[in-house]
Amino acid sequence: MTAEAIPFPTARPDGYEWFDEEPTFDPAIHLDLRLPSDKTYLVDLGYSREEIATKSTPIAASGAYRVLSDEGAAVLLASARRLREHHTTCDRIDTMVRGGVYRSKFLRDLCLDPSLTELMCDIFEADVAPHTMPVHLGHLNFEPDIVDKAVDKWHHDTLPCDFVMMVSDPTSIDGGEFEYFHGTKLEMAALSSEGHGPPRDRVVAPDLPGPGWAVALHGDMVVHRAAPLNELGERITMVNGYVSTDTTLDEQARSIDLIGVDDHETLFTEWARHAAWRAAGRLEHLITSLEFNPDRDVVAAQLNEAIADVQQAVKDMYPPENHSMAHYE
Ligand SMILES: [Fe+2]
Repeated sequence: MTAEAIPFPTARPDGYEWFDEEPTFDPAIHLDLRLPSDKTYLVDLGYSREEIATKSTPIAASGAYRVLSDEGAAVLLASARRLREHHTTCDRIDTMVRGGVYRSKFLRDLCLDPSLTELMCDIFEADVAPHTMPVHLGHLNFEPDIVDKAVDKWHHDTLPCDFVMMVSDPTSIDGGEFEYFHGTKLEMAALSSEGHGPPRDRVVAPDLPGPGWAVALHGDMVVHRAAPLNELGERITMVNGYVSTDTTLDEQARSIDLIGVDDHETLFTEWARHAAWRAAGRLEHLITSLEFNPDRDVVAAQLNEAIADVQQAVKDMYPPENHSMAHYE
């Protein structure tokens, strides 16, 4: 399965214009897809078989692997630098660009490329598709303007799976490593409640040797961050999000946290389409698999479960006033 779960919108939200004079994405020129040499599984981090069974993938994280050719990395760096003027901020990340796929066709076509999706299916050992909400495609993080402020604090993601890719050259930066905690979210929450970060001997920092190299991540299940820089310098990463195409699995989303992050015109419509897609898949599954049963409670519960993501989305679109973005710091 390498198709898009739902088609990328044909219209763009107000205020987003395509870049002119940008090279056209060509997978034959711009990609250099390789498999990682190693992977870590959720079970290695301490998750139980029961917890893992309903998740998008049994993978926790991969070692480094190459995504872009030198030509592709050069074009992406140029487009990311152009996108930077549209940067925003949030509780967790100082400088980021969201919705860049509505401005850069190169970024959009890279993030949706079928051969890249196929590689991600191989790595995740699961059928995944580029995320149904384009705000989660081609997310860009930039260095903060203050040294020793984490580029992105310890957190788990608001989406199931992604890859984190170096856009700038990691060898020219001091610090700013991508790191993850070799443990569960529950363990991290306990450490955090006592005022501790993860013990250094349980922090993994895969070696990313150059621009266009990435690490695959089960972002909802693995606590991770971008470490502070030791000296200021350009540091740009791209995060591309994925969903499982199997809508019977857990949604693994925290879209409520995006209300204070994303442009509302973009967010609510994308979120509604995503929830509608989840429910459509689950209802379709119900139509074909529901068995005769005299117990109305059992039948009604299954019907309710099929539309649970829609009900949750409608509720979460109106968060309590004190809601803030979750992280571990
Ligand atoms: Fe993240």
